[in-house]
Amino acid sequence: MTDSVLDESKSQSAAPPLVAEKPADRAVVDALIDDVFGPGRYAKTAERLREGNVPLLDLSFVCWRGAEPVGCVRQWPILIGGAPVVFLGPFAVEEGQRKHGLGAALIRRACEAATAAGHEAILLVGDLPYFGPLGFEVVPTGRIALPGPVDPRRVLWRALKPGGTDGLNGAVTKPI
Ligand SMILES: CC(C)(COP(=O)(O)OP(=O)(O)OC[C@H]1O[C@@H](n2cnc3c(N)ncnc32)[C@H](O)[C@@H]1OP(=O)(O)O)[C@@H](O)C(=O)NCCC(=O)NCCS
Repeated sequence: MTDSVLDESKSQSAAPPLVAEKPADRAVVDALIDDVFGPGRYAKTAERLREGNVPLLDLSFVCWRGAEPVGCVRQWPILIGGAPVVFLGPFAVEEGQRKHGLGAALIRRACEAATAAGHEAILLVGDLPYFGPLGFEVVPTGRIALPGPVDPRRVLWRALKPGGTDGLNGAVTKPI
């Protein structure tokens, strides 16, 4: 019998709640992210958009197993050519809890919350085979410029309302 928090034999209602991150959760959520990604994560271009930025905690979610977080997704305010957009990541599920739908549930919840908050679009750096079925597509080459090197096939966005990405182009920056 699996020990997963999203055991498929359990009913939908038994799935653990995804709770908006609180300021007090920061250290334990950071520890989960460090475990999953290792110290190399700080060298990523995506990190340039997070350092010195403040996460949108209402749009960032944690899945808890008792006092331990087993999955998380954070979202951040950024600008594309001066227009406000949400930047998603890090996104991580503890190794022993993967392949039970927790990751997809976190992404869906993050998208729903950003939509409800009135945002136009979400940008992320990730793998299309995973994020494509969740509504993300590759940003057309040359449309936007991240603050560092990145594989353009991994620069993905999702409109949260019709035409939500239509007018977006230019430099990707942090809000001041
Ligand atoms: C990516 C991650 C969060 C997914 O969590 P999860 O709870 O296992 O996700 P789900 O259960 O919704 O989906 C699992 C499926 O996605 C697949 N998958 C996982 N990562 C993938 C990737 N990078 N590309 C394509 N498919 C991927 C799994 O193989 C699995 O496929 P299966 O259902 O056919 O077995 C988790 O694998 C993880 O933490 N990975 C390391 C960190 C990472 O890569 N984060 C994303 C950076 S953008």
